[in-house]
Amino acid sequence: MKVLVTGAGGQLGRALIAKAPEGAEVVAATSRELDISDRAAVPAFVRRERPGLILNAAAYTAVDGAESDRERAEAVNDTGVANLVAAAEEVGARMAHVSTDFVFDGSASQCYAPDARTAPLGVYGATKLAGERRLRPGDLCVRTAWVYAADGENFVRTMLRLMAEREQLGVVADQIGSPTSAGDLADALWRLALEGHAGTFHFTNSGVASWYDFAVAIRDEAVALGLLPGAAARVKPIATSEYPTPAKRPAFSVLDTGATSAALGDHPPHWRHSLIKVLEQIKTHG
Ligand SMILES: NC(=O)c1ccc[n+]([C@@H]2O[C@H](COP(=O)([O-])OP(=O)(O)OC[C@H]3O[C@@H](n4cnc5c(N)ncnc54)[C@H](OP(=O)(O)O)[C@@H]3O)[C@@H](O)[C@H]2O)c1
Repeated sequence: MKVLVTGAGGQLGRALIAKAPEGAEVVAATSRELDISDRAAVPAFVRRERPGLILNAAAYTAVDGAESDRERAEAVNDTGVANLVAAAEEVGARMAHVSTDFVFDGSASQCYAPDARTAPLGVYGATKLAGERRLRPGDLCVRTAWVYAADGENFVRTMLRLMAEREQLGVVADQIGSPTSAGDLADALWRLALEGHAGTFHFTNSGVASWYDFAVAIRDEAVALGLLPGAAARVKPIATSEYPTPAKRPAFSVLDTGATSAALGDHPPHWRHSLIKVLEQIKTHG
């Protein structure tokens, strides 16, 4: 089947391309090749390529930036999805879309089921939720959280850089979620999409952590792999109130992945296991 992957230059986009299964004829479009917010370019591109499936990995992901740039966040995360859905409808394609834990307010104390009440705290989450609502009943929406990869801009790479530079690092300990490897997410997304699942699913790596726990694990595993010196930065737990950001973030955003595991017949790897695999890739490829 011909599959259009949008946002192909992002961390998930690159993972989707690397993990494309045999039989998927991938047409990869970076933001330069296809701006999904362009109402004329999207149908023209889709009419030319005539994919059977559109995997949308394109998004405005600057959570803090969105607070002062609502227009751009809406154009990509909401209108962009609407443009893709309209073009998909025209050529008879399905959509597989990716959304976020930021559609929830984080006030729950149990993991969020796909049908849990949504209540985004900020502009990014609100525009992603609006994008979800553009999908048709037969489309697939996979919400995920705390995504990182061996390359690109993400928490793991930022921590490795800061830990090499500083003696001590304060990391937020009162936000809880599930760190998720882009490669594992890409595997799940390909399977859910190609096996024809429709509706909203949740996928993260299993296990939960605070950003502080995640940072400590990054340091310890990086030291064990020789990526950081033994005397690498000490990590200090801090409160969210000590690290103010323009966007409010959910304090608890653990997603219930049970329906995804049932659909796929296996459980996601534990986040620490996947972290080690990604650190090994960083060690090998830089
Ligand atoms: N990263 C996370 O922690 C996280 C958590 C939960 C959910 N998600 C969701 O997961 C998906 C993948 O995110 P990611 O982590 O791969 O983010 P990413 O690395 O920021 O990738 C997003 C990609 O979308 C592209 N893009 C932006 N505007 C576009 C436009 N108008 N048209 C086409 N492409 C455009 C970006 O290109 P440029 O770089 O050229 O702008 C970038 O390549 C997104 O739907 C995101 O909302 C991510």
